Amino acid sequence: MNILITGGAGFIGSHVVRLFVRNFPHDHIYNLDALTYAGNLENLADVEDLPNYTFIHADIADLDDMQDIFSKYNISHVIHLAAESHVDRSIHDPLIFIRSNVTGTANLLHAAKDAWSGDNNRNNHLFFHVSTDEVYGSLDHEGMFTEETAYDPRSPYSASKAASDHLVRSWHHTYGMPVVISNCSNNYGPNQFPEKLIPLFIHNIKNEKPLPVYGEGTNVRDWLYVEDHANAIESVFREGRSGETYNIGGHNEWSNLALIRVICDQMDEKLGRPAGSARKLITFVKDRSGHDFRYAIDATKIEKELGWTPSLQFEEGIDKTIDWYLENEDWLDNVIDGSYQEYYDRQYNQI
Ligand code: NAD
Ligand code: TYD
Repeated sequence: MNILITGGAGFIGSHVVRLFVRNFPHDHIYNLDALTYAGNLENLADVEDLPNYTFIHADIADLDDMQDIFSKYNISHVIHLAAESHVDRSIHDPLIFIRSNVTGTANLLHAAKDAWSGDNNRNNHLFFHVSTDEVYGSLDHEGMFTEETAYDPRSPYSASKAASDHLVRSWHHTYGMPVVISNCSNNYGPNQFPEKLIPLFIHNIKNEKPLPVYGEGTNVRDWLYVEDHANAIESVFREGRSGETYNIGGHNEWSNLALIRVICDQMDEKLGRPAGSARKLITFVKDRSGHDFRYAIDATKIEKELGWTPSLQFEEGIDKTIDWYLENEDWLDNVIDGSYQEYYDRQYNQI
């Protein structure tokens, strides 16, 4: 297989690339990434010299480039993660989300259809779209999202992801392309850009800066450790049925405030500060516009059909995550001051 992983320099993509490079040693992994603010090749320094790994610097919104890449590298399988991924950014700058998430996905589908010229055998080809539970909208206190839940996206980010899910399904129904879609809950772990809740708050606590909690902090998210998501993606890639959707989640719901308090208390302990210090940094700020109240995933289908279950308890996952950010201060500093983007120049000498 020549497996094209898009968005592999990002948070989840880097864990997926690492897993696939190791677990598919006889296949070739092509990591295609535009290296936006969220893409960081330092995330993959440990695999970049392996013989079955190649990095491709390209933008999925460029159709000609996508067509050239499919033909030049004889791409047989796609795992598509490249996207603009932050809800707050989508509120301030929605059009880039349409460009990358909607047009970009359509370009990849179009290029794949041309390249695979009607060979719709699931063993030969697969277009795997990695999506989010946010396409299902917002829950009240009760209930969970299943694969049957009607789409009801409410932010420009989730609407762009919903649009791309629909495009992928339409290529399956219209052209018979072998596709799978996964819809996962909130991820946490190493290499996440510190604009998202968990790495931002770890960074701010370390630097004794305010912790901006939107609204009253009662919104609920269902958190999954990123390596468990990557393992789920491998299961769906290997055995997911064409045309199917798989929800992925850790049965691990937390209100923002409860989660933040756990992080605060663990950080005080790890940094040797008096108990209660970090909680004093909690600052309630204006709520996010259209803030979805609650997400919760029913992952029964992937558990029963593919035998996947999360391996880490939350307590262990958050402990590992905090340790990683504390031990990798350089990574965090480089991302915050923008110098991480020079890594590409140094490694590849192309710009
Ligand atoms: P991320 O923002 O950390 O990484 C996105 C990557 O895509 C970056 O490396 C970026 O450079 C690249 N990219 C963006 N636009 C591109 C373009 N036009 N062409 C090529 N590359 C481009 O995102 P993430 O959190 O790792 O999310 C990855 C995927 O998983 C996204 O599709 C997201 O919707 C989905 N997802 C994320 C979560 C989560 O909690 N983070 C949960 C479920 C699903
Ligand atoms: P985020 O990590 O942006 O993920 P998503 O919006 O995709 O779920 O936010 C997680 C939750 O934390 C969400 O309810 C918004 C809230 N939040 C804050 O309260 N303050 C912050 O500074 C951020 C980034 C998020």
